[in-house]
Amino acid sequence: MNTTIDIQIKQTSQSKLPGTNFENLSFGQVMSDHMFVADYKNGEWQNFSIEPYAPLALNPANATLHYGQSVFEGLKAYKNENDEVLIFRADANQRRLNESAERMCIPPVPEEIFMEGLAKLLEVDRNWIPSNPGCSLYIRPFIFATDDYLGIRPSLTYKFMIFTCPVGHYYAKPVSVKVETKYTRAAEGGTGQAKAAGNYAGSLYPAQIAQKQGYDQLLWTDGKSHENIEESGTMNVMFIIEDTLITAPTSKGTILKGITRDSVLTLAKEKGLKVDERFLKVSELKEALETGKLQEAFGTGTAATIAHIYKINVGDTDFELPEKPKDAFSYQVLETLDAIKYGRIEDQHGWITKV
Ligand code: COI
Repeated sequence: MNTTIDIQIKQTSQSKLPGTNFENLSFGQVMSDHMFVADYKNGEWQNFSIEPYAPLALNPANATLHYGQSVFEGLKAYKNENDEVLIFRADANQRRLNESAERMCIPPVPEEIFMEGLAKLLEVDRNWIPSNPGCSLYIRPFIFATDDYLGIRPSLTYKFMIFTCPVGHYYAKPVSVKVETKYTRAAEGGTGQAKAAGNYAGSLYPAQIAQKQGYDQLLWTDGKSHENIEESGTMNVMFIIEDTLITAPTSKGTILKGITRDSVLTLAKEKGLKVDERFLKVSELKEALETGKLQEAFGTGTAATIAHIYKINVGDTDFELPEKPKDAFSYQVLETLDAIKYGRIEDQHGWITKV
């Protein structure tokens, strides 16, 4: 790739690679050797560097620590059988990062800084990209305020950073979810659509209550009536009722515009499945569970990929979903997505960037 930004590279002399067990990767615990760093000051992004992954020194008055002016992304890189590096839908993540940034009064990161910083980081750390089945390199770009100032206003300075970690499955098994009708994740006019740090912090307490009751995740409902299913804490959610795939629309600004969500909807339409982007009522979900009309329920996300749901709690009732046949849509779409991501089939959608 031709670069238009000048990136200073300082490589580590103490790689963690030899001590990393690629056979037993969990999610987000082992970070690769390097990180990309850029500073925003005097109204522009500058000081592009790749440095050894290391802790940051922050002043206790750092604005992010107090007010959470921070946004992030998640995307993945894969290796194909020719050992080439493929990134899945990086352009969509770059755009979404900037949409989140706008909502949080954070300056956008131009495409060339995002893409060139990422490409160089993957070049330096290409040996961290797992080639074992089901594994990938998770990429975490993020921007955060760096002003040391306690007044409430948008920061004047920021850091944009990217680091990566080799990962296996986020959910190793199918998950159980509980419909949440007391707490609210997002309200219309709020920040629900932004991939903002605070959205995740606010969801921890209700999720922890559900986890203590034995459920893996919540199914969030809308903040006004709690009658409509929105998304889960770590992923968008989809339901197949009779012959139709139903998933919440992104038009109200309360759910994350998932890139896996979009990819699955694209593939679903191509596979001839009826797709209905509309809010599924909790009562409808309950009825579909009671009558056996619910064929499949699954989550979609970068980290989660396709997470099969095996149990849903609605009200006080646990409903176990019937065992899915091997040709169920969620298995098929996972297989197709994986085949695209690992370069086993032709990318007909322009989703893959080779670096
Ligand atoms: C992702 O899927 O990339 C996310 O940021 C969700 C989080 C559960 C890791």
